[in-house]
Amino acid sequence: MRTHLPSRKVIAVLTAALLATGMAACGNSDTGDKGDDGKITLGFSQVGAESGWRTANTTSIKEAAAAAGFDLKFDDAQQKQENQIKAIRNFIQQKVDVIAFSPVVESGWDTVLKEAKDAKIPVILTDRSVDSADKSLYKTFLGSDFVKEGRLAGEWLVEQKKAATGPVNIVELQGTTGSAPANDRKKGFAEAIAANPNLKIIASQSGDFTRAGGKQVMEQFLKANPKIDVLFAHNDDMGLGALEAITAAGKVPGKDITIITVDAVKDGMQALADGKFNFIAECSPLLGPQLMDLVKKVQNGEEVPARIETQETTFTQEQAKEALPNRKY
Ligand code: AHR
Repeated sequence: MRTHLPSRKVIAVLTAALLATGMAACGNSDTGDKGDDGKITLGFSQVGAESGWRTANTTSIKEAAAAAGFDLKFDDAQQKQENQIKAIRNFIQQKVDVIAFSPVVESGWDTVLKEAKDAKIPVILTDRSVDSADKSLYKTFLGSDFVKEGRLAGEWLVEQKKAATGPVNIVELQGTTGSAPANDRKKGFAEAIAANPNLKIIASQSGDFTRAGGKQVMEQFLKANPKIDVLFAHNDDMGLGALEAITAAGKVPGKDITIITVDAVKDGMQALADGKFNFIAECSPLLGPQLMDLVKKVQNGEEVPARIETQETTFTQEQAKEALPNRKY
């Protein structure tokens, strides 16, 4: 009896099918499995290195990722949204397990977030949020309540100036234009000072969260406005830059001009303890350990809360003196 051997065509089809099955079992992208080395791969797009806060945040993230045993792909976007979008697309192409990022500005993320969702890669927002209406584009947002920080700064000022009978002229150094902390701190501060009609913002401009920006814009404020009573800077670094401009203009920071900032990084706390700043609303950059915990959970398909708010406080000059010796960043 003649046996019929399978034709070459049939063998080729069977081989291709077997190979495809094997590859799917080893793959790490669509299924969300970990890489070959068993490590979770985290793609993280950082805003940049604009401030002391940012440096401390980057250190916290790198240290926590190493401690968790993750393979961290870190990208510095140098304060540019287009660089962040490029980095996120690279992470998608590399089929990382989870993407986390701190969005430089609030708007314009829907398209790239949709691409990550279509690739089944979970996204976590950290530090700053986005204004996307579709909340399914990311799993959670871990970070501060920036409106509250602005409000706490404003409420302190209202209390300090409650006896004022004439106008109190305030200048404001805003953070990066379009960023969540700049938008929200401005809003919270304005809402709080509305309680006293004597408190007036006479000039408000962005210093991009940098020392150089703070110095340059404060110089312009001082030239244009003979009477400045208060400076509200959206972060310590801009406040520290402004100190140079104020001193150069022959004024005494902390006395001639009341200075309120946000962050409470070491240099800011030192300026507060030295009497050059008057009040700081804290914004904690130590988000690394909480972020890694969330990465593990979303990678395992566990449910996570949609919003996780960082716990923070405020500092007067006396409180800064006490806290400084143990300040980690
Ligand atoms: O998003 C957090 C803000 O960004 C910090 O307050 C500021 O210092 C940083 O650059």
